[in-house]
Amino acid sequence: MRQLDLDLAEKSYPIYIGRDLISNPQLVSNHINGKQVMVVSDTTVAPLYLDKVKSLLTKYTVSEVILPDGEQYKTLETVNTIFDALLNNHFDRSCTLIALGGGVVGDMTGFAAASYQRGVDFIQIPTTLLSQVDSSVGGKTGVNHKLGKNMIGSFYQPKCVLIDIDTLNTLDDRQFSAGMAEVIKYGVLGNESFFNFVNSNIESLIAKDKDLLIDTIYQSCSDKASIVAQDEFESGKRALLNLGHTFGHAIENTLGYGVYLHGEAVAVGMLMAAELSYLEGHLEIKEVNKIKSILEKSNLPTSIFGKITSSEFIKAMSVDKKVKEGSVRLVLLKGLGNAFISDDYSDETLQRVINNYCNN
Ligand SMILES: NC(=O)c1ccc[n+]([C@@H]2O[C@H](COP(=O)([O-])OP(=O)(O)OC[C@H]3O[C@@H](n4cnc5c(N)ncnc54)[C@H](O)[C@@H]3O)[C@@H](O)[C@H]2O)c1
Ligand SMILES: [Zn+2]
Repeated sequence: MRQLDLDLAEKSYPIYIGRDLISNPQLVSNHINGKQVMVVSDTTVAPLYLDKVKSLLTKYTVSEVILPDGEQYKTLETVNTIFDALLNNHFDRSCTLIALGGGVVGDMTGFAAASYQRGVDFIQIPTTLLSQVDSSVGGKTGVNHKLGKNMIGSFYQPKCVLIDIDTLNTLDDRQFSAGMAEVIKYGVLGNESFFNFVNSNIESLIAKDKDLLIDTIYQSCSDKASIVAQDEFESGKRALLNLGHTFGHAIENTLGYGVYLHGEAVAVGMLMAAELSYLEGHLEIKEVNKIKSILEKSNLPTSIFGKITSSEFIKAMSVDKKVKEGSVRLVLLKGLGNAFISDDYSDETLQRVINNYCNN
């Protein structure tokens, strides 16, 4: 097992990464303070892993909530069902919530923990590659609104993150590739040697080689943890983690949830950001091609399948929360591994990139 710590003063917490960690009762119970534990999962993950997780919790009063599976259910209404379960079971302020599932379960459980009785403890047990390298770390929690993704939420850190890579055995290949988009993102935005490492091991990674996966997840969490430790509330540097996301969210919002997986939309978005960076003179074409090639080798999309017009795309970009007072601030690249935030690019160039990807 490998361990790293997210350093946030009194809110610091460990991230454990390894094999068969959900067979180790000590790891979880070290981070549970009260007697009551609510495990939150979804209809796909619960039949696979809920009993195993519950068997770690024999010392506690345990209840469970099984949410419907899908991004379209990442809503306040669904979070309300967690509150119903907590109140029906008389859970008090000393309880702990455990998120067992992908990013959708993690984001909603974290949000419920942040608000229930003004804040109770929670633990993340992420079971998708995307949630293991990204959403379970850093404390962003929340739900979607019909006018935009993740528009309602709060920053709320877990007590620990337990990444059992054996849960990836049951994850389908498309979901696994979607997680690879966020892995690749860390390399592209700030760590060229990690990009090269992933690039040279991509076939074995896609084949889920366990040792490589542990190293890759560790490095991804480590890169994210170091950025979050410097800027927990995204007043500056943390925004770099949104590379590809303003474009990606426009794709997700316009096509509707479920057409593109989050990671797939981010893959296309990252390439759009790279092309804009190239056209603005910050990035070489061979670097754009390197990004495109690693995405292709990861079985990720590099274009938009589905009908989006340029004007729909622009409109969707402007409801994205990364838009500050009119000018769309984007994460651009000054070379591989060197992202920066900018609103200093020409609108015509942005339009050109969007036209290349959309139906006009
Ligand atoms: N909080 C953050 O910082 C952050 C960062 C990135 C993404 N996100 C959010 O994360 C969400 C996407 O997360 P996701 O990609 O994990 O999607 P997801 O939670 O929808 O999971 C994807 C699918 O895989 C299934 N699944 C999960 N684990 C499985 C396993 N081990 N075996 C078999 N099936 C399994 C789920 O039931 C679901 O059908 C989005 O809502 C996105 O906004 C949040
Ligand atoms: Zn993301």
